[in-house]
Amino acid sequence: MSFEGPEFGKGDFVLLDDLTIEEFMQNLQLRFEKCRIYTYIGEVVVSVNPYKSMNIYSPETIRDYKNREFWERPPHIYALADAAYKTMKRYLKDTCIVISGESGAGKTEASKIIMNYITAITNASSRHEIERVTGILLKSNIILESFGNAKTNRNDNSSRFGKYMDINFDFKGDPIGGHINNYLLEKSRVVHQQLGERNFHSFYQLLAGANEQLIKELHLSRDPSAFTYTSQGQANSVRSIDDKKTHREVVAALRAAGFTDEEQKTLFKILAAILFLGNIEFEKKGDSVVVSKMDYVKKIASLLSVEEKDLQDCLQSRVVAARGEVISKSHDMKDAVYGRDAFAKAMYERMFCFLVERINEILEVKQDIVRYGKSTLIGVLDIYGFEIFDNNSFEQFCINYCNEKLQQLFIELVLKQEQEEYYNEGITWQNIDYFNNQIICELVEQSHKGIIAICDEACLNVGKVTDAMFLEAMDNKLKTHAHFSSRRKDPKNKDLAHDQDFQIVHYAGDVKYSVDGFLDKNKDQLFQDFKRLLYNSKNQVLTKMWPEGAQSIREVTKRPLTAGTLFKTSMIALVQKLNTKEPYYVRCIKPNELKSPVQFDYKRCKHQVNYLGLLENVRVRRAGYANRQPYLRFLQRYKMLSSFTWPNHQCSSDQEAVQALVTDIQLEDDIAYGKTKIFIRTPKTLVDLEERRAQLIPHLVILIQKMWRGGLARMRYRRTIAMYKIMNRYKLYKMRCYLLEMSQKFQGVSRRADLGKGIVWTKPPAVLEELVQHMKMIHLKWRAGKIVTRIPKSDWPAVELRCAAYEVLHGKRNNWLKRRQWQGNYLALQNENQSAAAVFTSRVNQLRSKDKFSEVKFSAHVRKVNKNNKCEDRALVVTDRHVYKLNPAKTYKPMRAGVPLQKVKGVSVSSGSDQLLIIHIEGADDLVLCIQKTNPEYDDRAPEAVGVLVKLLSGHGGNHLPVHVGDQLQCTLGGKSKTISIDRKSSPVTPNFRKMTGTLLTLSATAQ
Ligand SMILES: Nc1ncnc2c1ncn2[C@@H]1O[C@H](COP(=O)(O)OP(=O)(O)OP(=O)(O)O)[C@@H](O)[C@H]1O
Ligand SMILES: [Mg+2]
Repeated sequence: MSFEGPEFGKGDFVLLDDLTIEEFMQNLQLRFEKCRIYTYIGEVVVSVNPYKSMNIYSPETIRDYKNREFWERPPHIYALADAAYKTMKRYLKDTCIVISGESGAGKTEASKIIMNYITAITNASSRHEIERVTGILLKSNIILESFGNAKTNRNDNSSRFGKYMDINFDFKGDPIGGHINNYLLEKSRVVHQQLGERNFHSFYQLLAGANEQLIKELHLSRDPSAFTYTSQGQANSVRSIDDKKTHREVVAALRAAGFTDEEQKTLFKILAAILFLGNIEFEKKGDSVVVSKMDYVKKIASLLSVEEKDLQDCLQSRVVAARGEVISKSHDMKDAVYGRDAFAKAMYERMFCFLVERINEILEVKQDIVRYGKSTLIGVLDIYGFEIFDNNSFEQFCINYCNEKLQQLFIELVLKQEQEEYYNEGITWQNIDYFNNQIICELVEQSHKGIIAICDEACLNVGKVTDAMFLEAMDNKLKTHAHFSSRRKDPKNKDLAHDQDFQIVHYAGDVKYSVDGFLDKNKDQLFQDFKRLLYNSKNQVLTKMWPEGAQSIREVTKRPLTAGTLFKTSMIALVQKLNTKEPYYVRCIKPNELKSPVQFDYKRCKHQVNYLGLLENVRVRRAGYANRQPYLRFLQRYKMLSSFTWPNHQCSSDQEAVQALVTDIQLEDDIAYGKTKIFIRTPKTLVDLEERRAQLIPHLVILIQKMWRGGLARMRYRRTIAMYKIMNRYKLYKMRCYLLEMSQKFQGVSRRADLGKGIVWTKPPAVLEELVQHMKMIHLKWRAGKIVTRIPKSDWPAVELRCAAYEVLHGKRNNWLKRRQWQGNYLALQNENQSAAAVFTSRVNQLRSKDKFSEVKFSAHVRKVNKNNKCEDRALVVTDRHVYKLNPAKTYKPMRAGVPLQKVKGVSVSSGSDQLLIIHIEGADDLVLCIQKTNPEYDDRAPEAVGVLVKLLSGHGGNHLPVHVGDQLQCTLGGKSKTISIDRKSSPVTPNFRKMTGTLLTLSATAQ
C-alpha cells in the first residue's frame, strides 16, 4: 500500500501484527507523535485532535485525494469524504458521515474539513447556483458556531447543539441545496455557566466587535463582566478566541447568506435584551415582588419594541384564566427569577431556531434544479460529544444519551454491514463479541420504565413534585438495572449525594447526574405572557418568531411535550434517518485535557479507544477479511501480476480471471471468493500484492510510454501520409486544371490562321514546367510542320537554307532575315551582273564539266584581302562541291583550283549588316572577304552565304559547321592568326580592309 514509511507505524489498524490494546495504543501514540493524526480501521477513520494547525488541507492535498481509493494515499479524512461522495455519485445512494467522539475531540473541525473538501471537489463547471449553495453551506457554519458554540472547560469552541446537515446533489454530483437539523441547544447556558466557562460566543462577539454606533443603539457597554449572564464563569477572554474578528466574520456571513439588515439588527437586539434581562433583580414590596431597577426594563422594552409596562407586568406577574375569569397573579420571588431566566433562554433558543430556519429557506433545493435525474445527498452529523462535568445536569444527560444512540448505530451498522456482506457474498462468518450498549439506550428511552418516561410522569403530576421525588421514582423503577445507580441503591457509594445524584454507567464511562432542575428543564415552561408580549412587538421579525403569542388567554391548550420526550423523539428520528444511508465513520479522539499538541495522555486515550469500541472494530474487520474488492476493481489494480490477466484476460468472467491470477502468484491460501468480490484475509497479502504491483509499475510506465510514443509516431506517420496524399491529389487536380485550361485554349488550333502561335501559355504548376517545355516544342514542331506543308515543294530548298542560317545566326546577328527571296547564284542574274552574267555562266559551265559539281549554290562579287593585306575584287562561287575564287576582271577566271567543301572548317560573320564573310579553310589561308556590288546596293547577302555553307556542310545529327558571329573575328592569313574588326564610322562606296597592326585588320564597309 502506498501508506507512509514504517517509521509512521501502521496506517490501518487492521495491519497490526498482534491485535492487543497495547499495540493499538502504541501505534496510535506513534502516529500522533509523528503528526499522523489519521489512521484507518478499514474504511473508518480514527482522528486524533492535533491541537495545532496542520499543513494537510491545502488545495494540492485535495487534488491528491480526489477520485482516489482509500489505499491509494496515506490515511486522511479526505479519503473518507471522497468515498462518501463517490459512493453517492456512483451508486446514486444517500450516504452519511457520522462523526463521534467526546467533547473537544475534533468533531466540528472534522465536519468543516469534510464540507470544505466536498465543496472543493464539486462544481467543476463553476456554476453560479452551485457556488451560491456551497458558499451558504460554509457560511452557515460560521453563523451557527457563533450562536450555538461556547467555551466549556473541555473545549474552547464546544458545540452546544447537535447538527445534522444534509447536502443535496443533482445527478451530476453538483451540490444544489441543503438542510440543517438542529438538536437541543443547551439553552441553560444562556442564564448560567460553570466556573471557567462562557455563555454562547455570540454575546462576547457582539460586545467586542460591534461598532460604537451599534453599541450605543443597543444601549450596551462593552465589558462582559457588567452582565450577570456573561460573567458567572469568569472566563471572558480566551486566548484561542478573537471575538472582535469573529464578529466581523459573522456579520459578513449573515449578509452573504441573505439575512436582511432588519433581521441582523433584531438578532443583536435580542442578544442585548437578554444581557439586560440577566441584570434585572427583584425585591419584595409588601406582598408582591417587583423589579428593583426599571432602567433595564426600559432598555429591554426599547430593544424588543414592546411597551415598558407590558414587559414589567410579564416579569412581575402572570395572567391565568380560571373558571372563565382572567386574573393576574403576582409572582413570588422564585417564580419571578424562573420567569426571567426562562424568558431569556426561550428568546435565545427561538432566535437560534430562527437562524436555522432562515438558513434552510435559503438552502432549500430549488425544484427546477431537481427536475432531471435523481437527487441524492450526503449527511454530515456533528453532534455534541460525550461529556462529564463536575456537575452534570439534564443537558449532559441528553447529550450523553445522544452519544449512546450514535454508538448503538455504529455497532449495528458496522457489524450488520459486515455480516450482511459475508452473507450476501456467501462467505462463512463467525460472530465477534462486542459490548452492545442497547441496554443503556433502553435505560433512557424505554416507555414507562425509561428515565425520560419517569421524568415525564413526574412532570405530569399536579401538585408539588420535587426533583428528589423524581429520583425516588427512578430508584424504585430502576433498582435492578445494571447501569443505573444512586445512593439509595448503592449506599456504599459516598460519591452520590442522598436525594440528589444518580449515576449511569455509560458506554463511555460512569456519569453522576444531579437531579436538581431536572423537572423544570424537562417541563421547559415559559409563561404565556412572554409569548404574547413578543408576538405583539412592533418588530416584525420578533413577531414572526413567536406565532403562538397570538393564542387567546382563555384558550385551553394541550400540555406541551416535555423537552426530554422531544429530544428522544428527535434522536430516534435521526437514527432512523441515518439508518437509511450508507454510513461512513470518523471516530475522534482527544489526546489530552490540556489542549496540548504534544501530550498523548495514554490513559485517557486508552479509555476512549475502549469505549469507542475501536479494538472490536478492528477485530471484526480482521476476523473476517481485512480487505475485499469487487473482482473488476481487483483486476484493474493487479492484473499486471500475471500473464493470464495482463494486459487483458481471456477468461469467461472477471472472477475466473482473478482466480487464475491468484493461483498464478500463489496467494490462494489467503483468499476467499465471494459472489461479486474477492476477500483477502490477512493484510499481509494485500501488502504483498501492493509491493509486487509497485515493483512492476516502473516497467508498466515505460511500456505505457513506449506504446504512447509508438502511438504518437503512428499517428504522425498517418498524418504525413495523408498529407502527401492530399498534396498529390491537389497537384493532380492543379495539373488537370492546367491541362484542361490549355486544351481549351488549343481547341480548334489547326483551324486557326496562326495555328495557335498567339496562344499565351499560362504559367504552369512547377511540376508541369518540363512537360510544358516539351509541349511547347511539340506545338512548335507541329506548327512548323503545318506551315511547311503549306509551302510548295519547289520552295523547300530555299526554306531549308533559311532554316540553316536561322539556326546559326538567330539572336547573334542583327537584321539578317530580310523579306527577300534568296537567289543564290546572283552573278548569273542579268539584273545583278548585267554585262558579265553570260561570261560568268560560261565560266561556271567550264568549271562544272571539269570539277563535276552539279549546281552553283551561291555567287557574289566580293572584296577580298590577302595575306599581304592587299584588297582585290573577286567573285565568290560556292557549288555543291567547291568554293571558288574567280577574277571578274579576267572573265571570271579561277584564281586557283576550287577549295573542296570538306576543307571548309568554319565561317565567321560580323554581328552587323556589313558583308564581312570569313571562310575558314583547313591548311590554307582563310577567305576573308566582303560582299559588294550587289543589286540593290548593299544588299545583305552574307547570311545567305552562311546559310548555303552551313546547309552544304552540316552533317547528320545536327553537327553544324562552326559559325562565329562577332565584331572581333579571327582568321588565318599567311599562316598567321589575325583579327578583323569592323570600322562602323565610315561608309565607303567600296569596302576596304586596312592593316592596323601586324595582326589587326579593319574592315570599312557600308552597312545596311
Ligand atoms: N484537524 C484539526 N486541526 C487543527 N486543530 C484541530 C483539529 N481538530 C480539532 N482541533 C482543535 O481542537 C479544538 C476542538 O475541536 P472541535 O471543536 O472540533 O471539537 P468537538 O469534537 O466538536 O467538541 P464538542 O463536542 O465540544 O463540540 C478546535 O477548536 C481546534 O482548536
Ligand atoms: Mg463540536
